[in-house]
Amino acid sequence: MSSTVAGIFETMAYGPAPESKAPALEWLKAHGGEFGLFIGGQWVAPQTGERFDTINPATREVLARVAQADAADVDRAVRAARAAWPAWRGLSGHARARHLYALAREVQKNARLLAVLESLDNGKSIRETRDIDVPLVARHFYHHAGWAQLLETEFPGYGPVGVVGQIIPWNFPLLMVAWKVAPALAAGNTIVLKPAEFTPLTALYFAEIAERAGLPAGVLNVITGDGRTGAALVQHADVDKIAFTGSTEVGRIIRKQTAGSGKSLTLELGGKSPFIVFEDADLDSVVEGVVDAIWFNQGQVCCAGSRLLVQESSAERLLAKLRARMEKLRVGSPLDKAVDMGAIVAPVQLERIRTLVHQGVEEGAKMWQPSWACPTEGYFYPPTLFTDVSPAATIAQVEIFGPVLVSMTFRTPREAVELANNTPYGLAASVWTENINLALDVAPKLKAGVVWVNCTNQFDAASGFGGYRESGFGREGGREGMWAYLKADWEGGTGKREGEVVPTVEQGTTRPPSPVPLPPIDRTPKLFIGGKQVRPDQGYSRQIRSPAGTLLGEVGDGNRKDIRNAVEAAQAAAEWGRGAGHTRAQILYYVAENLSARAPEFAARIQAMTEGSADRAKQEVEATIARLFTYAAWADKYDGAVHHVPIRGVTLAMNEPVGVIGVVAPEESPLLGFISLVAPALAMGNTVVVVPSEAHPLSATDFYGVLETSDVPDGVVNIVTGGKDALARVLAEHLDVEGLWYCGSAAGVRAVEEASAGNMKRTWATHRPRDWFDARQGEGRAFLRRATEVKNIWIPYGE
Ligand code: NAI
Repeated sequence: MSSTVAGIFETMAYGPAPESKAPALEWLKAHGGEFGLFIGGQWVAPQTGERFDTINPATREVLARVAQADAADVDRAVRAARAAWPAWRGLSGHARARHLYALAREVQKNARLLAVLESLDNGKSIRETRDIDVPLVARHFYHHAGWAQLLETEFPGYGPVGVVGQIIPWNFPLLMVAWKVAPALAAGNTIVLKPAEFTPLTALYFAEIAERAGLPAGVLNVITGDGRTGAALVQHADVDKIAFTGSTEVGRIIRKQTAGSGKSLTLELGGKSPFIVFEDADLDSVVEGVVDAIWFNQGQVCCAGSRLLVQESSAERLLAKLRARMEKLRVGSPLDKAVDMGAIVAPVQLERIRTLVHQGVEEGAKMWQPSWACPTEGYFYPPTLFTDVSPAATIAQVEIFGPVLVSMTFRTPREAVELANNTPYGLAASVWTENINLALDVAPKLKAGVVWVNCTNQFDAASGFGGYRESGFGREGGREGMWAYLKADWEGGTGKREGEVVPTVEQGTTRPPSPVPLPPIDRTPKLFIGGKQVRPDQGYSRQIRSPAGTLLGEVGDGNRKDIRNAVEAAQAAAEWGRGAGHTRAQILYYVAENLSARAPEFAARIQAMTEGSADRAKQEVEATIARLFTYAAWADKYDGAVHHVPIRGVTLAMNEPVGVIGVVAPEESPLLGFISLVAPALAMGNTVVVVPSEAHPLSATDFYGVLETSDVPDGVVNIVTGGKDALARVLAEHLDVEGLWYCGSAAGVRAVEEASAGNMKRTWATHRPRDWFDARQGEGRAFLRRATEVKNIWIPYGE
């Protein structure tokens, strides 16, 4: 191969692009290449001293030695979890949300090391660990920080189950940690987690970073070992729930062992998922879909699209394209950023794949593999395609859990559905067609927990994942996944609050209260428009005094022109509403974090402005942080609905942002009232022009600095200080303001409602003061409803 630039252009060959494994190996070395069990917040040696190797399947090198926990170790871990439970479940949802948020941040901060460690231990490509697994892990913790925050209002009458035992497989070692740990913690359970024997390292690393993030000792215990350890955990009398992901065979054993024990159980088992291609599908997209369906993670995916069902008329064309694509796939070192497939996890799995492929050939199916050879130093297996497969053949029925695709043909949609459902499993299915009628007709007929239309292997923390039939029961992710970790109070769910201990987001970042609570008087804030602090148009400022008359500072006196500029900036920032709710959640959390870092300063400011007690001011800041968490939580959870209308089809009710919302904040609770209105508007994707409390605007102007350091895009929040009713009127008359929320006088309400008739903007005007500290008055769905418009999309279906 030529190494000149011209030569490379000629061959278009890939060079090696290796990721460094040094930091991961250093971490292993720091532990002396040997691990204990993580119990009660510390590393302890296994009782028997027994350990086993965990290897890198791409090189066969030993990475580390890990402990084999026996029943006595399991007992120790369960006791630690039990001891930690009362305090953990006693925390408020908000306090637990902060812990989950801290875990998400910790995952992000250590993302690369986690990705490399996962590739080393499992053999999957760094491209997948770095770009798919680890980001999904962080996402899972963020999302569930939200469920912790909303637990008391969204799951009233329910509490945690207790101590949960979690047993996970080797195919997505870290992602499975997240899927198990995040909802369990959010709901207030404590955990004993057992990673798979082939891939324990990222779970151990996670235990370490969780401890670093301040998770209380005993809340998460990680014990390593093989099936014997898992069995001891399942059979432990003081475990309240078992969550298992793995083979159907072991799932069945666990079902029997827990029967009648009162333990809750969720099982996420195997699959033989159909990938259905109709003749009108875009075949080039289909080919890429197949690559993701069966060669992602070397096919070691429970929901892998391992059965390709293609309409007879397109079969030849599709298979030809597929073979051409397979010829171009690259199998090699998982740490090479340019490979498609890495190594198979272990020799036993490789052997299982070989045996089943051999059986397929024996039973008369036709096997095809690309012409190139796999590396020989590790456990690799090439992408493999079977044609001429009978529906009853072993390879069409048994989960191979490797890069092996079996294909069959069908003639009619009905036959496709029959073939697709011809399996004891029911985890997932993909349907490929350009005809939405057909797709939506077929999807409900498939026995599968997830159906992907013109896509495959899509996962997200907001969407429940789990199977029908022998693929198990229970869901992971989303609201439905939370139920798996909750129990009704009357059934013994003991989630009642037992006093509140609110830890700070990051220990040590909170400054001690300043001895001089007031900033120097010459700090005159300007207005905040389009992400910049700008001088008011007319160049006047207003003096701000405490109730007793002390001069506290000055703020800009905004006018009509300033409001217009602010509306223009808010309009230009509309992209905010088109992005993902998850992104908005992260930014709102970040705002909360930065506010928390300056909490004493904000409390001092509130106290000076209102001349209330120091305690009350402190509570207002804490309540504001909690409120930001609430809406960060809601940002990706205010779901639409599917309505039952009397047609054959579905009506999707989708929530959309209103647009630019004018917010005229209340006079009372100057910080909390301001954020209680701004945060829900932002969470739902609106941009805002805010007029803060006229009498006490200084916590809003202090807030500029928090916004500037929290990744809030320019123009999303604009703040114009000044005379409240005059500015409200300008907002009400402005044709580009779509919604107006006003808290003020009765005369002000009337003026705002009258002036809003111009473009029929949605007004929400009130002169009745609220207790912003009371969650029933100050937050929740009423605010989200005001912050959204519902669009109903009718999709009739059927051929
Ligand atoms: P497995 O089901 O034996 O292992 C999964 C987890 O269960 C591991 O942590 C293991 O230590 C634990 N375990 C094993 N026996 C147990 C027992 N009696 N009680 C409690 N825990 C126990 O899966 P294995 O042996 O790793 O793979 C075998 C086959 O299972 C694969 O070839 C594949 O077909 C399927 N599998 C399916 C997965 C899925 O996500 N659906 C994941 C892993 C494997």
